[in-house]
Amino acid sequence: MGKVYLLGAGPGDPDLLTIKGLRILREADVILYDRLVSPEILALANPAALLIHTGKRHGQQEEIQNEINALMLRHAIPGKIVVRLKGGDPMVFGRGAEEWALLTAHGIEVELVPGVSSAIAVPALAGIPVTCRGVAASFAVITGHNQKSETPDWVKFRMVDTLVILMGVENRVRIATELIALGRPATEPVAYIERGSTDRERVVTATLAEVARGEVEVESPAVCVVGEVVRLRLKLFSETPTEVAVAC
Ligand SMILES: C[S@@+](CC[C@H](N)C(=O)[O-])C[C@H]1O[C@@H](n2cnc3c(N)ncnc32)[C@H](O)[C@@H]1O
Repeated sequence: MGKVYLLGAGPGDPDLLTIKGLRILREADVILYDRLVSPEILALANPAALLIHTGKRHGQQEEIQNEINALMLRHAIPGKIVVRLKGGDPMVFGRGAEEWALLTAHGIEVELVPGVSSAIAVPALAGIPVTCRGVAASFAVITGHNQKSETPDWVKFRMVDTLVILMGVENRVRIATELIALGRPATEPVAYIERGSTDRERVVTATLAEVARGEVEVESPAVCVVGEVVRLRLKLFSETPTEVAVAC
């Protein structure tokens, strides 16, 4: 029996891969990687490793997840070192726990290698701390996806200081409308950080009302931050050439 590493690749910048992650990538026989893993990180892998792209296409999640599970088993059972390489951290909306459970059920050794999650690192790199003394004492990381099993109950997050929404680009108008309806101020600042930590990073700031009116153009992947901490960006960066400020 081989071994599967559930390994977090971080948000994109190869310098944000962990030292342990790099060592394991250099030893891997087979690497099954997700859509959000950057080519610069794949370039660090064992040149002899078999690289398999497992990016999930829209609307086919379960089918593709079954294929990924079958691939992990097919390569691990004969004794290969398999890396399941995921963007950010495998345990943050990464299906890390489900894959771990499946592999354990088949008697395969699993080791988790945490990664730097986009949920915290991407806002931070853009000058937005998710907490800050006197501004925000709590934060929640929420999916913006509208899946049957995962549709968030926004009522639960009404009182949380900072909301970090992953996969929230497509449904942004509905999410902002719902947050305002639940009592969050329409003037509350929002930031979308597209492709954080890469040289194509772009930051869009606006208010919840502007997002709700459909005035904010954003591309996926982006981390959305809702809360007063967004204003700190202006204090931390005096010049923000890549910023598109709708308002704030
Ligand atoms: C399926 S979730 C995976 C999250 C990942 N496991 C993590 O810890 O960062 C994918 C979402 O993460 C966010 N994301 C991941 N990497 C990003 C990046 N470099 N820039 C902006 N958003 C990113 C986006 O919201 C994207 O839709």
